[in-house]
Amino acid sequence: MSRRGLIAPHGGKLVDLVATGQRADALRQEAGSLTRIRLGEREQCDLELMAIGAMSPLTGFMGRAEFNSVCERMRLPDGLPWSIPIICPVSTEQADRLTVGQRVALVDDRDRLLGVMTLREKYAHDKKQECEKVFGTQDAAHPGVAVTLAQGDVCLAGPVEVVTPRHEPEFTERRLPPARTRAAFEERGWRSVVAFQTRNPIHRAHEYITKCALEICDGLLIHPLVGQTQKGDIPADVRMKCYETLLAGYYSARNTMLTVLPAAMRYAGPREAILHAILRQNYGCTHFIVGRDHAGVGSYYGTYDAQRIFDEFEPGEIGITPLRFENSFWCKRSGAMATDKTTCSTADERVSLSGTAVRDMLARGQRPPVEFTRPEIADILIAAMGK
Ligand code: ADX
Repeated sequence: MSRRGLIAPHGGKLVDLVATGQRADALRQEAGSLTRIRLGEREQCDLELMAIGAMSPLTGFMGRAEFNSVCERMRLPDGLPWSIPIICPVSTEQADRLTVGQRVALVDDRDRLLGVMTLREKYAHDKKQECEKVFGTQDAAHPGVAVTLAQGDVCLAGPVEVVTPRHEPEFTERRLPPARTRAAFEERGWRSVVAFQTRNPIHRAHEYITKCALEICDGLLIHPLVGQTQKGDIPADVRMKCYETLLAGYYSARNTMLTVLPAAMRYAGPREAILHAILRQNYGCTHFIVGRDHAGVGSYYGTYDAQRIFDEFEPGEIGITPLRFENSFWCKRSGAMATDKTTCSTADERVSLSGTAVRDMLARGQRPPVEFTRPEIADILIAAMGK
């Protein structure tokens, strides 16, 4: 715990890479004469997270030693846990035109300035190593692997200063950076706060585990990921309607906050669970929900691998505490949500539906059973699919 009572950021200090006032003006002017590096969506998300301190203690894109250390040991070179490399890959042709030591302008896909990086290093992007270690597969059908494979073959590394973390950001009201999120927790007097990562609408199972977690914490931060996701995931604006509706109808506003995490989804399962937890610690959360197949996709990861990976670290190395939840479902015998831990019912006494089955029902304009999805949420999803 820090002096003020909130949990300390990962590595001890909340980073702020956003230049303001005269410094921002100077960077804008300088950038006019710098070589421009156009960032992909994943790198734009990473840059924004670094800028606002969500990736503390990172202050720039990783060099080769960090890349290797993170891939091989799940640690930064100084030993601090870190599970996914944060890198800036470009094409070989582009890298060849750059000299170590020069400054480059980082721009978005419409060439708008985001920030400036001092180029400290260029090194070959070992995609094989990254895919094997981070994703546990080289399969190009894996959506996170597909993004990595499409990236450039050379990584640029160096410290960054950011002028605009994101042009035309979505959900501005709810895009609260870590420092402001921490301040909001203090204002509410929350000492313990559990964060809930999600990339889906909140179904009954999600609702159940968030409420179980809230029973033992002062506050609940519903923290949907709204950066890059894969085709087929429900768009963030539709999800946001679901979250707002659910919160208004079924949660206590006194104990629940809804803000967004502008991160790119990697679908890296266990490794991403560690990253997700660290990010939420930086936002000031003390606890983090890890349910079944957290950040998973297809059948690449075991149901509880993302929980077990936390055991690879010594107690206290990761400050935030994972709260592990078993697969939850509606139990007809109990007339309540339950897990294997809490009911002795048999499979035919449980309401469980696959993601595909739910999508098919919604596409036909049919509400899934109320024990699976609340009707208000089903209606929002049906309306969005009909568009
Ligand atoms: S994720 O990619 O963000 O993990 P999703 O939004 O579906 O996907 O899950 C959010 C969180 O809820 C994750 O921690 C996940 O493990 C958990 N979760 C989702 N469904 C269930 C379930 N039926 N039972 C237990 N935990 C679940």
